[in-house]
Amino acid sequence: PHIHYVTADGSRTELQADAGVSIMQAALMRGLPGINADCGGACQCATCHVYVDAAWTSKLPPMEDMEDALLDCTAEPRQPGSRLSCCLTMSAELDGIVVRLPAAQA
Ligand code: FES
Repeated sequence: PHIHYVTADGSRTELQADAGVSIMQAALMRGLPGINADCGGACQCATCHVYVDAAWTSKLPPMEDMEDALLDCTAEPRQPGSRLSCCLTMSAELDGIVVRLPAAQA
């Protein structure tokens, strides 16, 4: 499945990711800047914050309490589409998902 990343300055990058890979991992594996992922995907750092495009939010898995709490600690303000990208695993259903990257993660 494909993931479209839109940086804070508006540039877009499309990456192919295997199913089962998180949106955080896919970006880090290709060296895409904009996601820090300080905790390595353990849902403990909130530096993998992304804004999921409104067209896609209903297709996402529900948030665990830990993710919900961490989203109140992000460097950039939480918005309705805010998620931690290490908690979003790619699947065929998410093919084409668009995520915006915040201007800062820490
Ligand atoms: Fe740390 Fe996602 S990588 S919370």
